[in-house]
Amino acid sequence: EFHEHPRKAGFSFEGVLGKYDNRQLQRGLQVYKEVCAACHSLRLVSFRDLEAIGYSEGQLKTIAKGFQVPSINPETGEAATRDGLPSDRFPLVYANDVAARAANNNAIPPDLSLMAKARHDGANYIYSLLTGYREQAGYKNEKGEELLKQFPETKTPEGLHFNPYFATLNLAMAPPIQDGQVTYSDGTAATADNYAKDVSAFLMWSAEPKMGARKTAGFASLIFLVIFCFLAYGAKKQIWRGVK
Ligand code: HEM
Repeated sequence: EFHEHPRKAGFSFEGVLGKYDNRQLQRGLQVYKEVCAACHSLRLVSFRDLEAIGYSEGQLKTIAKGFQVPSINPETGEAATRDGLPSDRFPLVYANDVAARAANNNAIPPDLSLMAKARHDGANYIYSLLTGYREQAGYKNEKGEELLKQFPETKTPEGLHFNPYFATLNLAMAPPIQDGQVTYSDGTAATADNYAKDVSAFLMWSAEPKMGARKTAGFASLIFLVIFCFLAYGAKKQIWRGVK
């Protein structure tokens, strides 16, 4: 087994009552916009959804305006683009799959809206994938078995990149982030590790924006069930009191 299980990034939203950290989600959005959006769409998210991670209406308008969305020239009827509005969704990156493949060595960068749900342990997976690129030569698993000795046919082909967190070990995405690439304004260190953590948290939010409400409701219903147990027990005692 050479395919590694995701490493834990230590997210605030893990655990029974875990919650998203809006500042982290906003940094994650910044990483998405400045890095991932060059290749990956986020087609299920509209700009106004970002209100949930702490933006004001004015800020939403500015974020939306930073994207060009498809439109039609009213005079000529031809396809055109215009500035995004809060009611728009994040635009697609490529006109179609052929264009996507042409730009990416014959691979299609998948839409990231639901990626954190589509993969096992999604947020940790994305974090691990982004920070998991390494030399293939000499790569060993936990048991000390050497990949290329056991499976020489897995040698990374030209144009692909070795990453032990990816199901097939070699993927078409080159390492997308490096230290210093994105400038944060809240004092968080500009490291690839932080970018990976923040964008993974943001993609968890895009895949499950109502996680907080789900966890609160789940916890409340457990407390109710505990109280209900005592009530049911008391009722049973009461009803059968006179019967030996
Ligand atoms: C695949 C995330 C930046 C091109 C993927 C996958 C994820 C991901 C989660 C899917 C892996 C899977 O299927 O399990 C990200 C994030 C980025 C980023 C979070 C920003 C930090 C980029 C950039 C490019 C790119 C800038 C293009 C230059 C691709 C391609 C694939 C891919 C072509 C398909 C790989 C394959 O199927 O072999 N990315 N990506 N990504 N990404 Fe990215």
